Amino acid sequence: MLASGILGVSSELMVRAARSGAGAVITKSFNRNGREGYHNPSFVQVHGGYLNALGIPNPGMEEMRDEISAVRKAGVRVIASVFGFDDQEYSDAAKVAEEAGALAVELNVSCPHVEEVGIEIGQSPRRVGEVVKAVKRSVGVPVIVKLTPNVTSIQQIGKAAEAAGADAISAVNTSLGMAIDLEAGRPILAGVVGGLSGPALHPIAVRCVYQLKEAVKIPVVGVGGISDWKDALELLMAGASAVQVGTAVGYRGVGVFEEINRGLTNYLADHRYDSVREVVGIAHKEQVTA
Ligand SMILES: Cc1cc2nc3c(=O)[nH]c(=O)nc-3n(C[C@H](O)[C@H](O)[C@H](O)COP(=O)(O)O)c2cc1C
Repeated sequence: MLASGILGVSSELMVRAARSGAGAVITKSFNRNGREGYHNPSFVQVHGGYLNALGIPNPGMEEMRDEISAVRKAGVRVIASVFGFDDQEYSDAAKVAEEAGALAVELNVSCPHVEEVGIEIGQSPRRVGEVVKAVKRSVGVPVIVKLTPNVTSIQQIGKAAEAAGADAISAVNTSLGMAIDLEAGRPILAGVVGGLSGPALHPIAVRCVYQLKEAVKIPVVGVGGISDWKDALELLMAGASAVQVGTAVGYRGVGVFEEINRGLTNYLADHRYDSVREVVGIAHKEQVTA
């Protein structure tokens, strides 16, 4: 799947990602009235990935309603990522997404750079439970909760989401990071701290998916630093039932989906697997040695 925040505001670009091999696309996170986002610099390349503090710029739910319907009309599976400053706003955005044809909603409770709507919720099992329950009361489509790695126990948060009725979990959103301009002696990002994505995040994502798989029964969707089919396979083996790709689409283009699909297909054939389902979570099984 195309991860949230990358090409996810324009229906044309989401359709292009699907035509290039993404099984589903996730929209940019949106709320009721939209947001302008933060001043620049809001994005910087660092060793092993990107740091961003965009501030969730989005056009708001009414404009996203049109983009989602256009993606659906093109026959593409679309999941809407939503957020809000209170439970009602999460529910309202989710309702609009469902009406527009989104097949599921993903709750962004894990943005590291917008106060009140992101990790403040995602770091609290109680708040995660409240938001999930509110959205579950408002929509009939599956509700996926996207978690932050910036917690002491991601298992505890995952269990709270499951207990509140979440249908699946996505792990992970970006991890808090920071970069400093050596000439100016000042933080590079206008928002000071940002979210780290890309290859540097990958081992953290593998660890989070592995731990969640041990803690919950609902499906886990793996996301974080996938650059090629090997990274995707690693998250599947850790327990992910599906995976999302974000940053790699930014630096390698939408062709990355096709490459990942081809690489996975070849691996499965070489190892005599009939279905990708057979590798999901195999890292948890006890190895039998001769
Ligand atoms: C520029 C940018 C914007 C993002 N915007 C969102 C967003 O709006 N909502 C969200 O849930 N995640 C957002 N993310 C996080 C990604 O969906 C993903 O969880 C994270 O980047 C890790 O995956 P990756 O290493 O493949 O990019 C964004 C990431 C980037 C790099």
